[in-house]
Amino acid sequence: MKSQNENIIKSVLFTEEQIEKKVSELAEAINRDYKGKKVLMLCILKGSVIFFSDLVRKLDVDCDFDFMVVSSYGASATSSGEVMIVKDISRSIENANVIIVEDILDTGTTLGYLKNILLQRKPESLKICTFLDKPSRRKNDLKADYSGFEIPDEFVIGYGMDYAESYRNLPFVGILAPEVYEK
Ligand code: IMP
Ligand code: MG
Repeated sequence: MKSQNENIIKSVLFTEEQIEKKVSELAEAINRDYKGKKVLMLCILKGSVIFFSDLVRKLDVDCDFDFMVVSSYGASATSSGEVMIVKDISRSIENANVIIVEDILDTGTTLGYLKNILLQRKPESLKICTFLDKPSRRKNDLKADYSGFEIPDEFVIGYGMDYAESYRNLPFVGILAPEVYEK
């Protein structure tokens, strides 16, 4: 049987082992900064689901979860620049210590928009934790408070990240073969 991944990956960027180590480091930093506080871990679906579930299991601070679904990309490898809230948080975040958990910070459009909306709801604090960061693509001055790996301007898949809603389940991060989207 042919694997679904054959000819899809140009190269593996981060292995499962490298990812595990990085997620542990991020969790350690959050544990240190939020010691004695309650934190609301806000998962931005769908891309963050794998990162989120690995990260929260390494936290030893009191935490609550919530989920938002935002959509900024269609079935394409470039952003449409539009952000749509498909599902909002299910509670008030007033006075909460919120950490937005994202898979990848690219142009910054999605998180810039989300940050503005959430700040209007008067949280006690609002921080951004991103697994990957592509700083060369940024269109605003947004910076993550916690950032896993900086990556070059390549389209990546796996560990929650998709191309046209496939490959999210790959346990590693790979660079998508350009032939796939140049077809
Ligand atoms: P931004 O609004 O341009 O910062 O885009 C953020 C969102 O675009 C991320 O949450 C991802 O869903 C998606 N995205 C950006 N770059 C990639 C990539 O290389 N692979 C998969 N998804 C990506
Ligand atoms: Mg996403």
